[in-house]
Amino acid sequence: SDPDLVARAAAAKAALGEKVFVLGHHYQRDEVIQFADVTGDSFKLAREAAARPDAEYIVFCGVHFMAESADILTSDTQQVILPDLAAGCSMADMAALPQVENAWDVLTELGVAERTVPVTYMNSSADIKGFVGRNGGVVCTSSNAKRALEWAYQQGEKVLFLPDQHLGRNTAVLEMGFSLDDCVLYDPHKPGGGLTPEQLRDARMILWRGHCSVHGRFTLDSVNDVRSRVPGVNVLVHPECRHEVVNAADLVGSTEYIIRTIDAAPAGSAWAVGTELNLVRRLALAHPDKQIMFLDRAVCYCSTMNRIDLPHLVWALEELVAGRVANRITVDADTAHHARVALDQMLALPG
Ligand code: 13P
Ligand code: SF4
Repeated sequence: SDPDLVARAAAAKAALGEKVFVLGHHYQRDEVIQFADVTGDSFKLAREAAARPDAEYIVFCGVHFMAESADILTSDTQQVILPDLAAGCSMADMAALPQVENAWDVLTELGVAERTVPVTYMNSSADIKGFVGRNGGVVCTSSNAKRALEWAYQQGEKVLFLPDQHLGRNTAVLEMGFSLDDCVLYDPHKPGGGLTPEQLRDARMILWRGHCSVHGRFTLDSVNDVRSRVPGVNVLVHPECRHEVVNAADLVGSTEYIIRTIDAAPAGSAWAVGTELNLVRRLALAHPDKQIMFLDRAVCYCSTMNRIDLPHLVWALEELVAGRVANRITVDADTAHHARVALDQMLALPG
């Protein structure tokens, strides 16, 4: 990266000292991750944000829903900054509050809402987390989805899982022994979700029709292809991948799990990793004694994660040095209150 920008970022961070804390998600660019005080998956970063009450400014190098969650989990005097406001998440955008309220009305009319617990993946707007908190549900991440679902099924008989169909299906079927028939897919663009009243009444798991377009690029062919090219390869994927991909993989887990697994792997072992490319490239560089490759032949960055580049980070930090707060992310008090209930429920899950 540009040596001038590297020096400016270092100088701005030094000038701000303890006042600033920089969080970096594992999908961030190398040029940005080098300035992170802590790196992590969504769960770890949420906990880290909550554990830094002395930092006046939290600069979140990640995407919008992560910065919103950090704002909800920090105190009113702390300010959360997203270096580029256009760093969103297309999956989070697939569940809008009016659509989810509409789905809840459908379940209410059928008389099943009171037995249904809403569970939302962290990758959702603060509005959706607020809805879930108001209705007795919980937030989950890719590292605790099973525990969150187990908790939810202690509270009710059914789950409405938002917005990632793949994480919901993969967790229910591959980790909790559900059958594919226990799950139905609710399409917010169709009346009644495109489902019959019987389907909605019978399903144990109502999956929202959302997905990650980055992880959606991996297919069963990608897995079969790498297995034929690289004998003995271990296939390690994120649970946002399609069901057939996760089913065919050897191991599945969050970004933090993927890193731990590769760190612990023996020298000489071969790994095809199905997740975002910045992380896979960093793993390959960090482990020259292991054969680490991207699961698909085509490259696949998360374009919104990549929006946070060094120029944006330098700008956000230098604004703070100049006494200005640019790109602050705030969640209104009422939404934050209810979203916090659902986030705190996640943080209180056992294990
Ligand atoms: P992790 O919680 O595994 O870091 O995943 C976050 C994410 O957005 C993956 O697409
Ligand atoms: Fe969203 Fe997918 Fe990017 Fe994660 S990788 S931030 S789920 S678009």
